[in-house]
Amino acid sequence: MKAIAVLTSGGDAPGMNAGIRATVRTALTGGLSVFGVKRGYQGLIEDDLFSMTSTDVSNILQRGGTILHSARSEEFKTVEGRIKAAENLNKRNIDGLVVFGGDGSFRGANDLQREHGIRVVGVPATIDNDIWGSDFTIGFDTAVNTALEAIDKVRDTAAAHDRLFIVEVMGRHAGFIALEVGIGAGAEEILIPETVTKIPDICKKLQSRYEKGRTSSILVVAEGDEEGNAYEIARKIETHSGMKSRVTVLGHVQRGGSPTASDRMLATKLGYAAVKALLDDAAPCMVGVENGSISRHPLADAWTRRKELDKLLVQLSYGLE
Ligand code: F6P
Repeated sequence: MKAIAVLTSGGDAPGMNAGIRATVRTALTGGLSVFGVKRGYQGLIEDDLFSMTSTDVSNILQRGGTILHSARSEEFKTVEGRIKAAENLNKRNIDGLVVFGGDGSFRGANDLQREHGIRVVGVPATIDNDIWGSDFTIGFDTAVNTALEAIDKVRDTAAAHDRLFIVEVMGRHAGFIALEVGIGAGAEEILIPETVTKIPDICKKLQSRYEKGRTSSILVVAEGDEEGNAYEIARKIETHSGMKSRVTVLGHVQRGGSPTASDRMLATKLGYAAVKALLDDAAPCMVGVENGSISRHPLADAWTRRKELDKLLVQLSYGLE
């Protein structure tokens, strides 16, 4: 292997830059040439690549977002799109590709290797933390801390006005962010897709707490909850109980900001591990950190196997009322 490329795909995640930095520097130290791909797979199809040096990744480790930019690409889901992408890699004699992204990005990477022999390694980078094979994904810790800081602020005004607040967090179809930040923020209720949300039970508990003097409450809702988003939950609670509420949707605030120390460490380990996996001819695979150690799993596990929530956290989400 003489040359590799690196790209970021799907939703950006704080820590991606730290991962890019580790990938580039590990590869250069290993005697490889490194190309950066702008705008994910769409940039690969449009031949938007540039040769990277160590200096290109100076002073980026602390920055959120991704210097390579990211995008979602419908064209890459087509055989013709992947042919164009492979041509742009082959004409530079690039035979390895590091993909920072989620399960959707890894599916595309797997197709690229299967159809064109480009050796690919996936690095789990999404704030959702919904990828099997790594205890945490890059960006999750930062997103949780960002949401936590915001909810602590909401708690102040909820208490000041004796109000019920419903705060919606990201996570796509998973409740990892909601569960962790809900417990961390002391939310009175946490609504996630992985557990059944019962509006009548929630209303009963809210009313009981109110009668005991807890005149303000915070509900944390994962955007993928089966009962709907925060506005739908607010409407259902009011319809069922007459209780009014205010809604705060944290949205893309959770995707930005300087990565925490944990995310910088995770991203640095995984960026290094990705290049090591390519040099060890272990591609295609996804690298992860499990119980503190680097792991490698078949790429397909990322979308065929479902990561479970921490059972203790689920139990705590019910227990600390
Ligand atoms: O997958 C990361 C994520 O932030 C999800 O939590 C969220 O549902 C989605 O991306 C939002 O996508 P977009 O940035 O395209 O609006």
